[in-house]
Amino acid sequence: MRRVVQFSTGNVGQHSLRALIGRPDFELVGVHAANPDKVGRDAAELCGLAGPTGVLATDDIDSLIALEPDCVVYTALGETRPMEAIDQMARFLAAGINVVGTSMVWLVTPRQIDDWLREPLENACAAGDSSLYVNGIDPGYSGDTAVLAALSLATRAQSVTVQEVFDYGNYDDYEYTGKAMGFGTTADDEPAMAFQPGVITTMFGGLVRNIAHHLGAELDDVTQRFEPWYTDRRIECKMMTVEPGGLAGVRFAAEGVRDGTALVTVEHTTRLTPAAAPDWEYPPDGHSGVHKVIVEGEPRVEMNTLLSHPVLDVTEAGCVSTAARVVNVIDWVCRAPAGIIAVEDIPPAEMVRGLVW
Ligand SMILES: NC(=O)c1ccc[n+]([C@@H]2O[C@H](COP(=O)([O-])OP(=O)(O)OC[C@H]3O[C@@H](n4cnc5c(N)ncnc54)[C@H](OP(=O)(O)O)[C@@H]3O)[C@@H](O)[C@H]2O)c1
Repeated sequence: MRRVVQFSTGNVGQHSLRALIGRPDFELVGVHAANPDKVGRDAAELCGLAGPTGVLATDDIDSLIALEPDCVVYTALGETRPMEAIDQMARFLAAGINVVGTSMVWLVTPRQIDDWLREPLENACAAGDSSLYVNGIDPGYSGDTAVLAALSLATRAQSVTVQEVFDYGNYDDYEYTGKAMGFGTTADDEPAMAFQPGVITTMFGGLVRNIAHHLGAELDDVTQRFEPWYTDRRIECKMMTVEPGGLAGVRFAAEGVRDGTALVTVEHTTRLTPAAAPDWEYPPDGHSGVHKVIVEGEPRVEMNTLLSHPVLDVTEAGCVSTAARVVNVIDWVCRAPAGIIAVEDIPPAEMVRGLVW
């Protein structure tokens, strides 16, 4: 039985919290909420479950450390407040508490990250003899587990493309995702944060280099490309309302180039509602989101990962899977040597242990 703390109860956190409460091999001992309206409320209520757990949300990190859990699941929004997120994760790690998480997405490829991110976390792991592991569905599964599975079916690969083709219309995250991608802005506005020069390669270049590294291939360069799509009519969706002339679709990629051609491509096609960007690729079979890997090689391999759920929208199902990617390896991470763990360190079968009870 692993004693666990859930840190944050947002889009991903509420699903990891439900998973932690539901699984018989975990004991939920604490929950962090930053939102003052959530502090003091029962964990079950914060993730939509009926029966109370008796575990009340707190914003006091010291009191969570004092519980001496085996592991913290850190899903607080990290990329907009990186130094604070590093500090919070480091406090648990230095106290000897393992951390798994979905935040700070650069950590999905920890062997590609810069020193400002790696050093404080590595030092904290060393001080506390603890481990840190970050993953998700994209980035995460789509560029690691799925890519390795697809490539393992080829005897030779000429190129590999990792694609997310998703309708984010129902993703209730205008404040971060919506603003960062510039949805609703016009062609006269400054490019959004995500599409400033160099940002795509900063966000996704690590994934590209990591795949090239696994292939044993030298890249000449990692470049980026971006295409906006502006709507000529009003688009209304859960994320926001986009007025005519506003951005309602984006297609962007980081490309690992060798000898003038893209060897490794990580591409996103993101639209708000099916009405956006009608000339761009849609997911297959009427789905509103797909994670796809295409290997051009001997043979050509195309792998489509399609999530669905009887109640949840596909973006919420993606959040469930993002939570699963880290909750499922808590036990292994608790047994791992100290340090920052990469997905390739984890035996694949360890990622499914405990899913059936
Ligand atoms: N790799 C993937 O596939 C993938 C997919 C989705 C998300 N992610 C990553 O996972 C993280 C969470 O995403 P999300 O969509 O769940 O984010 P979110 O819903 O926007 O925010 C998550 C939670 O962060 C907490 N938070 C916000 N400001 C905070 C602060 N100053 N101090 C402490 N906690 C704070 C809040 O928790 P409370 O509401 O409890 O106060 C909030 O609900 C992000 O870093 C995101 O990039 C990765």
